[in-house]
Amino acid sequence: MSVQPVFTPVRMGDLDLPNRIVMAPLTRMRAGSIDHVPTALQAEYYAQRFSAGLIVAEATAISPDGFGYTDTPGLWSAEQVRGWRRVTDAVHTAGGRIIAQLWHTGAIAHPDMRGGSPPLSASDVNLLHESVTPSGRQPTVAPRPMTTAEIRQTVVDYARAARNAMEAGFDGLEILAAYLYLIPQFLNRTTNRRMDEYGGSIENRARILFEVVEAVLEEVDPSRVGVKICPMHEGGPMAANDETLPITEYAVRKLDGYGLSHLLLMGNTTDFTGTPLEPLMGDGMFRHFRPIFRGKLIANVGMTAERGNRLIAEGLADLVAFGRPYIANPDLVERLATGAPLAEVDWKTVYASGPRGYSDYPAIRRAAQ
Ligand SMILES: Cc1cc2nc3c(=O)[nH]c(=O)nc-3n(C[C@H](O)[C@H](O)[C@H](O)COP(=O)(O)O)c2cc1C
Repeated sequence: MSVQPVFTPVRMGDLDLPNRIVMAPLTRMRAGSIDHVPTALQAEYYAQRFSAGLIVAEATAISPDGFGYTDTPGLWSAEQVRGWRRVTDAVHTAGGRIIAQLWHTGAIAHPDMRGGSPPLSASDVNLLHESVTPSGRQPTVAPRPMTTAEIRQTVVDYARAARNAMEAGFDGLEILAAYLYLIPQFLNRTTNRRMDEYGGSIENRARILFEVVEAVLEEVDPSRVGVKICPMHEGGPMAANDETLPITEYAVRKLDGYGLSHLLLMGNTTDFTGTPLEPLMGDGMFRHFRPIFRGKLIANVGMTAERGNRLIAEGLADLVAFGRPYIANPDLVERLATGAPLAEVDWKTVYASGPRGYSDYPAIRRAAQ
């Protein structure tokens, strides 16, 4: 019987991966709440998942200004670098590979986490969403538009976080340009009403993304740098619109020119029937962007081994990323390989503290005992 494509090795940038199953980044809120330092518990959790071809670690704030989600880690201080070193060492000792994910939360942060100051974003548009604060979920507020100097500082902060990621022993990094966070806040014309060189045209709204990419590439070889995007966002001011496709095409085409290690591309998570994005639903997303991005394409959302095998065999993706299945299945690769059943997620403990529902999901061999 021939080997299934998802279990075949692949070279991504200059990393040799033993299989094409990627652990997607998962925020789990187990970092130090004051210093934002990754903990020994996180090292244990990631090491348990070592058999993934690649682990993309949870979103990690690049700076105090970019921090906006309680109990998540950072990558700006020496203590945080040491904390991450403990994680990367644990994963490497187990035999795995792990990259960092760089994050600026922008308008999703809350004044409670910023000494009372509003969060920073492209413009003063409230995301009409929820901030995750030390005292629980609260409605988002209107952010303060960044000055040009603050944008330049943010770009510098990304570069420092990239340098720190490599110092912490990561095998590379990924720039988070998805969801409700800072970079998409600049990309989206509803949340970016700027009149300067960072607002207006598609080129201007995407400028910060490319300044970030170029600043990061000053620190880290492109063979170790990727980007995550999620074009089909739903709800609120950041919902996908008739301009989502052109700006995403522009961004992906330009990203292709940097020789990056990968693009982690999310498919749709909700129904876009009857909208301009309907053709991108399901595998349409990968079919559309595969010819535009020549680096390694990692397809994500609702993957199964069968779908991954088909996408890879059809040339629509090089790897596939699993998010939710990795919460309760540390040995997902082995389960997919043997057809073993997948454990169910206990959602109450996903964003909790401590090992329960985090590092206590057993591997199948132990589960069977
Ligand atoms: C609990 C949870 C936390 C997540 N945290 C992050 C994150 O930190 N960074 C990110 O880019 N995506 C994050 N995601 C999205 C996942 O990486 C992934 O794109 C999404 O779950 C779709 O993949 P799936 O269908 O395999 O779950 C998160 C998803 C979940 C369920």
